[in-house]
Amino acid sequence: MRSHYCGALSTASIDETVTLCGWVDRRRDHGGVIFLDLRDREGIVQVVFDPDTEEYFKRADSVRSEFVLKVTGRVRARSDATVNAAMATGEIEVLGKELDILNAAATPPFQLDEYTHVGEDVRLQYRYMDLRRREMQDRLMLRSKITSAVRNFLDAEGFLDIETPILTRATPEGARDYLVPSRTHPGQFFALPQSPQLFKQLLMVSGFDRYYQIAKCFRDEDLRADRQPEFTQIDIETAFLDEREIMSITERMICELFKTVLDVELPAFPHMTYAEAMERFGSDKPDLRIPLELVSIDDLMQQVDFKVFRGPADDPAGRVAALKVTGGTSISRKEIDDYTRYVSIFGARGLAWIKVNDIAAGVEGLQSPILKFMPDEIIAQMMARLGAADGDIIFFGADRAQVVNEALGALRIKVAEDQGLVADGWAPLWVVDFPMFEEDGRGGWTPLHHPFTAPACDAAQLVASPGVALSRAYDMVLNGTELGGGSIRIHRRDMQEAVFGILNIDAAEAKEKFGFLLNALQYGAPPHGGLAFGLDRLVMLMTGSSSIRDVIAFPKTQSAACVMTNAPGDVGAEQLRELNIRLRQTREAASEE
Ligand code: AMO
Ligand code: AMP
Repeated sequence: MRSHYCGALSTASIDETVTLCGWVDRRRDHGGVIFLDLRDREGIVQVVFDPDTEEYFKRADSVRSEFVLKVTGRVRARSDATVNAAMATGEIEVLGKELDILNAAATPPFQLDEYTHVGEDVRLQYRYMDLRRREMQDRLMLRSKITSAVRNFLDAEGFLDIETPILTRATPEGARDYLVPSRTHPGQFFALPQSPQLFKQLLMVSGFDRYYQIAKCFRDEDLRADRQPEFTQIDIETAFLDEREIMSITERMICELFKTVLDVELPAFPHMTYAEAMERFGSDKPDLRIPLELVSIDDLMQQVDFKVFRGPADDPAGRVAALKVTGGTSISRKEIDDYTRYVSIFGARGLAWIKVNDIAAGVEGLQSPILKFMPDEIIAQMMARLGAADGDIIFFGADRAQVVNEALGALRIKVAEDQGLVADGWAPLWVVDFPMFEEDGRGGWTPLHHPFTAPACDAAQLVASPGVALSRAYDMVLNGTELGGGSIRIHRRDMQEAVFGILNIDAAEAKEKFGFLLNALQYGAPPHGGLAFGLDRLVMLMTGSSSIRDVIAFPKTQSAACVMTNAPGDVGAEQLRELNIRLRQTREAASEE
């Protein structure tokens, strides 16, 4: 129908007759001339109808916002006085000769340029309208460019795109499963994959060597700005490559992607151990754009009587750390109270602080509620270690190490945002040398990644001291977001059984849940490994969005529902009977409980 996209017109088309199809962005009536801003996915152009074309002029007069039109007309230059520099097509306009109304539109639920006045639920309910907005069109178009660049890269590197099942068994990635009842196997359920993890490993056993898939994953977990119940991974697996080679290929992929799509040269990716990341940033996904660091002062606090600090300093599982904020003396008491409330979300029981007014004056030059609990000599040593200078504020956390890391790690980001300390640009890194396991709080162990991750030691050492064993896992982090993670996998059955043993998965359970994997490992499984990127998070960062909901065409709400289609929904009694399912109570009764 169309000869050009509205947004693709330029002075190059002057005097051409063009046919455009699109939506009415705006209609204005100026002294007997009608201006229509016609919009399609490429942009907007102004179309003018004057009364000379009587029939079409009348029709143009009758259109309203969001009507769908087909317009034929002649491109002409705008006069100097009417050039619109703010508009990509602002140097030209189309003099309308013909106009078809392809469809009328009811009054939109919200004006596209006033979407911020409506809540996100209204935007999601009318998502097809929300997606007409320039910003949303740009984001989804960039997403498409990104997947296409990723495919080009991986295709050129010899990776094969292979699909894996959606109806499958539970794939343990640490979240709850979405279950699908089986009609043909009454009482039994499929699980939707939390990731294609086991299938991609089996493809390596089959000899496919380099696999990728842009794969839908499903996880029933608490949602946040960077988590959706249904999301997409760029999933990769290779055989016969070690972790250095896998990190190198995928780092090149991300660098090429940024170059192709954003024309950005990413800096080199430093490698940082998990231990160092926790020590310096309290996080395994540090935002290296922020020039603030945690500094341990346990040894100093072992020499004070202040119980709040002394207890955690003496406790091997505790930590006392300081966070120095340059120029932070301007932070008010009220702001400190707000920060104290903020760290309490992470379990911190307080937030001690010292303001450095005049470092040369010794303790006299400091201001703080905790100075009275510490000898001057210890305070002086602490100030020296922190490199404290006039104008600084120092915050303190003292608790179990996990609480201190989470609280000060989050405070570091919050204060940096509030004080304008986050540098521009991109700060990528690899985090490596993760522990294999962490304590599950019930005397057992859980894997830090998933149970198929290879340890850096042998099976005997692993079994002897699971708490200190490191894994061959790696995460890619960009600007404080975990973009992707992966590992070298276990490719020997005895090692896999040893890990299941440590995780308290006995032989019967291992056989029932992962028998197919254990079997496959004994038929010539090659050494293999890979990783998966969160595509939504990648697009979020590359488009500068603050939530992955903004880069997914039809995302779920915070409560994991779709307000547009009203999913999830009720099903009829007949369908339930076929599936052999009887509800214990109706939805109404359940929500009253
Ligand atoms: P992992 O669980 O770390 O690893 O997931 C890989 C990446 O997927 C993204 N991601 C999510 N994105 C949006 N919403 C979610 N709910 C969500 N959960 C995860 C993150 C994360 O880094 N099978 C392994 C990978 C491997 O070992 O190869 C896995 O799934 O960006
Ligand atoms: P208190 O003696 O409880 O009044 O605490 C003195 C100061 O220490 C206050 O500024 C508290 O906010 C702070 N504080 C208390 N508990 C902790 C903790 N676990 N970590 C850091 N600061 C704390």
